[in-house]
Amino acid sequence: MPTAASRVATFGTTIFTEINTLAQQHNALNLGQGKPDFDTPQDIIMQLVRAAQSGQHNQYAPGPGTASLCAAIVDHAARFYSMDIDPKRGVVVTSGATEGIFSSILGLVDPGDEVIIIEPYYDSYVPNIIMAHAVPVYVPLHPPAWTFDPAELRSAFSQKTRALILNTPQNPSGRVFTPQELTLIAQLCIEHDVTVIADEVYEHLIFADAQHIPIATLPGMFERTVTVSSAGKLFSATGWKVGWVYGHPELIEGVARAHQFVTFAVHHPTQEAIAYALNLPDTYFAAFQAMYATKRQLMMSALDSGSLKYTAPQGTYFIMADYSGVFNGTPLEFTRYLTKEIGVACIPPESFYSQEHAHIGHGYVRFAFCKSDDLLQQVKARLAKLKRTF
Ligand SMILES: Cc1ncc(COP(=O)(O)O)c(C=O)c1O
Repeated sequence: MPTAASRVATFGTTIFTEINTLAQQHNALNLGQGKPDFDTPQDIIMQLVRAAQSGQHNQYAPGPGTASLCAAIVDHAARFYSMDIDPKRGVVVTSGATEGIFSSILGLVDPGDEVIIIEPYYDSYVPNIIMAHAVPVYVPLHPPAWTFDPAELRSAFSQKTRALILNTPQNPSGRVFTPQELTLIAQLCIEHDVTVIADEVYEHLIFADAQHIPIATLPGMFERTVTVSSAGKLFSATGWKVGWVYGHPELIEGVARAHQFVTFAVHHPTQEAIAYALNLPDTYFAAFQAMYATKRQLMMSALDSGSLKYTAPQGTYFIMADYSGVFNGTPLEFTRYLTKEIGVACIPPESFYSQEHAHIGHGYVRFAFCKSDDLLQQVKARLAKLKRTF
């Protein structure tokens, strides 16, 4: 009987499927998957409806993206980061950031090349690298502060290094890399002639005094960086799957060549709605950040009530919690226990680590706080029941 290809042989079903099923079975409050439990703003939804009803946007969009969305992406990058992007040759609209990252790897990395990733990492990176027949090289972040060791980063670079995937603000650690950290990464990438795939989907989710600095804005980095972002995160519309990649036209050409034979073009009416959304005034982005600042406080107070330790996230809507003071076992065992006995679901970080470094995530689970304030209050009440089990 024909079987699946060897390149996908090691890909299991994601942990999210198991946890979602378990959460449903036990009526648990689900802080597993990073998808909001509240709706996309109504005015943005209305733009989608209008675009579909207009009869102008129901056939294939241009492969690299509609003129309106490409212009909005470029304007957004100019408004927030003073970046100067070519709307015609410097942007590709993709089916979510996930496709943007995959098309970037396919378009910019050759078989046998090494790609550095910082772990724990977003779970599509490694399968993407493997499908491109490239080789992942891992640099771990060390808890509790989730910082990398500069010597470990330096030693990850070799003659074969072609790209580095940099996610800041970082899922799942909540880190926003500092100017010093970004400068070191940039120096090493320049020294070794490496391309950066900058995953900045949480660019507007930053807290306290953290500042998001796109690595493409550092000296010498624009010509070696493609920046990826996503409407899913910015506009609480993860189901719309619209993302984009922008940067120097030479690199974007590679991404666009891959993209044209992966998805060709992205859902057309949605692009019109996202163009509208990206052009919203600064007040939208400030209110979005303020809404999440409240959720972050609620989340931290819920973890306090369960005596779970954490480092306050500087960005994203994720937090890594240290359960070692209350439970003795693997992250998966703790997740099952918490879901079944306490009624709160989270994600064990095994799928965010290579085998080599999985032990670093031992004792931690990830909670997503992109949930209603009311639900986060209920989580607090449930976590208060968490008692030391050993
Ligand atoms: C770091 C990171 N990159 C990319 C994505 C995927 O974004 P999209 O839904 O736009 O494909 C996610 C989603 O959780 C993410 O956390």
